[in-house]
Amino acid sequence: MSIKLDLSERSHINEVDFNALGFGNIFSDHMLVCDYRDGAWQTPTITSVTPFSLDPSAKVFHYGQAIFEGMKAYKDNHEAVWLFRPQDNFDRFNLSALRMAMPTIPESIFLDGLYQLLTIEQAWVPKQTGSSLYIRPFMIATNGTLSASISTEFRFCILLSPVQSYYSEPINVKIADRYSRAANGGVGAAKTAGNYAAQFYPTHLANQAGYQQIIWTDDATHSMLEEAGTMNLFFRLNNSLITPPTSERILDGITRKSILTLAQHLGIHTEVRPITVQELIDASHTGALKEIFGSGTAAVVSTIKSFAYGDQDYPLVPLLPNESYAQQMKHALTSIQTKHTPDPFGWTFKVCG
Ligand code: COI
Repeated sequence: MSIKLDLSERSHINEVDFNALGFGNIFSDHMLVCDYRDGAWQTPTITSVTPFSLDPSAKVFHYGQAIFEGMKAYKDNHEAVWLFRPQDNFDRFNLSALRMAMPTIPESIFLDGLYQLLTIEQAWVPKQTGSSLYIRPFMIATNGTLSASISTEFRFCILLSPVQSYYSEPINVKIADRYSRAANGGVGAAKTAGNYAAQFYPTHLANQAGYQQIIWTDDATHSMLEEAGTMNLFFRLNNSLITPPTSERILDGITRKSILTLAQHLGIHTEVRPITVQELIDASHTGALKEIFGSGTAAVVSTIKSFAYGDQDYPLVPLLPNESYAQQMKHALTSIQTKHTPDPFGWTFKVCG
């Protein structure tokens, strides 16, 4: 599919301090936009990042028919730009689209469009250690009618944002014992907007109590540990790394499955199995609980320094970097992503440079 180019004459890259990026506040000069109407995807355009003009009755505003992905581009030492497992994000985007009754998108728009956008915007991929270009493909329902039914018109867009990692420090988390993120038969495994909006209020309450995130539990019993909303979870009991199996309630994280493969490759014993709140508390009491960390595109690998359940806080004993599985996983993963070490798994894809 051909892509229309409508490029701006002036870049604002010189106004950006690449040493103080934060997360998701700064955007590159251009985005890719493609509309779906009359049962077909139209010609995509790469154009300046400017506000959309949408009908106030567009279904996304009323019924939340919206999906997104999170990906990252990295620069190697020779200024080449690389993506990490882009096909997996493309596949997951289309699974989310199916679950949310939205049209799937062809590779020629999502992936080829992304490669072209990145080639134009390659100067925006940061070189600083720990920074990368966060990629946010998303799709919204744009049909202007208040009927609560599937939209017939959609907009797909890709935004690029130079970022640092999402959590700069180890975090405190609270285990959910009242609110739920997802339920069986629901949309927990889809990357749909409402999954995140539904977490804002309970997470706000947790923030006020001094916790940065919530560990979500199963909605029926609140006894099984699931995910942290922006991250999948890993629990290290003695020398075994445990992560709950993905399900209709848990996002099938690409970083999660990469860490499982990397851990096995490095000789770390892994277990994909349900883990209960009680098992975690017991392991904390016996000293078997060594580490908890989250994994995700934005979060990369984020150490959890304490968890709370009910009124009780359970701090974890900090480990030296060379003892920590979280540190080992983060190092192994980011070294592959930035091409500092060989990629024996074929995960990295060169876009340009
Ligand atoms: C990502 O890791 O890309 C995510 O989608 C999490 C996001 C909500 C910050």
